[in-house]
Amino acid sequence: MKNGAAVRAAGVCKTFRDFWRRPRVEAVRGVSFEVPEGCVYALLGPNGSGKSTIVKMILGLLFPTAGELQVLGRPPRSVEVKRRIGYLPEESRLYPHLTPQETLEFYARLHGLPGDVARRRIGELLEMTGLVHARNRAVGGFSKGMARRVGLAQALLNDPDLVLLDEPSSGLDPQGARQVKDLIVALGKRGKTVLMTSHLLADVEDVCSRIAVVFNGVLLAEGALDELLVRRERTCMSFPTPEEPALMERLAGEVRSVLGHEPEVTHPRQALEPFFLELVRKAQTPGATGAVPSAPLAPFLAGGDSKGAAE
Ligand SMILES: Nc1ncnc2c1ncn2[C@@H]1O[C@H](COP(=O)(O)OP(=O)(O)OP(=O)(O)O)[C@@H](O)[C@H]1O
Ligand SMILES: [Mg+2]
Repeated sequence: MKNGAAVRAAGVCKTFRDFWRRPRVEAVRGVSFEVPEGCVYALLGPNGSGKSTIVKMILGLLFPTAGELQVLGRPPRSVEVKRRIGYLPEESRLYPHLTPQETLEFYARLHGLPGDVARRRIGELLEMTGLVHARNRAVGGFSKGMARRVGLAQALLNDPDLVLLDEPSSGLDPQGARQVKDLIVALGKRGKTVLMTSHLLADVEDVCSRIAVVFNGVLLAEGALDELLVRRERTCMSFPTPEEPALMERLAGEVRSVLGHEPEVTHPRQALEPFFLELVRKAQTPGATGAVPSAPLAPFLAGGDSKGAAE
């Protein structure tokens, strides 16, 4: 494997067969891509295009019909790889009778985390996901977004090097979605590799540096977002709007005379998300009853405890 690739897929195919082993769906058809280590990478594509199937093959939950897949330098099913991966499935699968606290304690035991490390991480993750006030309620009664937050905490409990997030913002409110984005960026800055799927293209644009677009099990495009999206044939300049309209006309005249083109004059528009979040931030009153925004990254994820060793 080439140095520096957290995931390497070469000609990967997955055909689902029926009970009689007859080919039923060619979900993935010869997909090749590399996710560089430390990269925040998104798999995009319409419903049913094969994204979750690819993620499950990376996890070793599904076996490719053809092609080669390497994860952190090894075959996906190796135990060493599984220890270093965190996974948020597209559907939260939680034990309904357990509380978030008990759910995380259960997974901490599966990961073999020492008791004191587990306690601290669980506390920090509940804080990070805004679930402290609901830590002792059974997750069966949780809203979709709250269950998602538990799933996210569970995916990060082992401080994984490779985080697979299948539609991480699905079901989250705008604050929750923003927190997940901040979390993904923070994980990337800490050198973690994040491979996510999402239908929220604006979110992907905010956090990912590389993308692959899948359609019908085939890659349509793959590469660095900056390279894929840049329109080198157009140039924009931005400056404070002159108070004097005549000045604007003078500038436009200059462009006309130098380039021979009529300039397109527009005003930049801010995105809905910062507009919305700023409104809500200003209106926030003490004693709010909804999900409470918290720090983007649990302290243990921010460094110093990556091996899970007791301090
Ligand atoms: N276990 C399975 N058995 C048979 N077919 C399957 C199975 N899992 C997925 N498929 C089929 O494989 C194709 C790809 O499914 P997949 O779940 O990977 O899509 P996706 O890109 O994740 O879609 P979405 O955006 O809706 O989550 C679909 O046609 C789906 O019906
Ligand atoms: Mg899917």
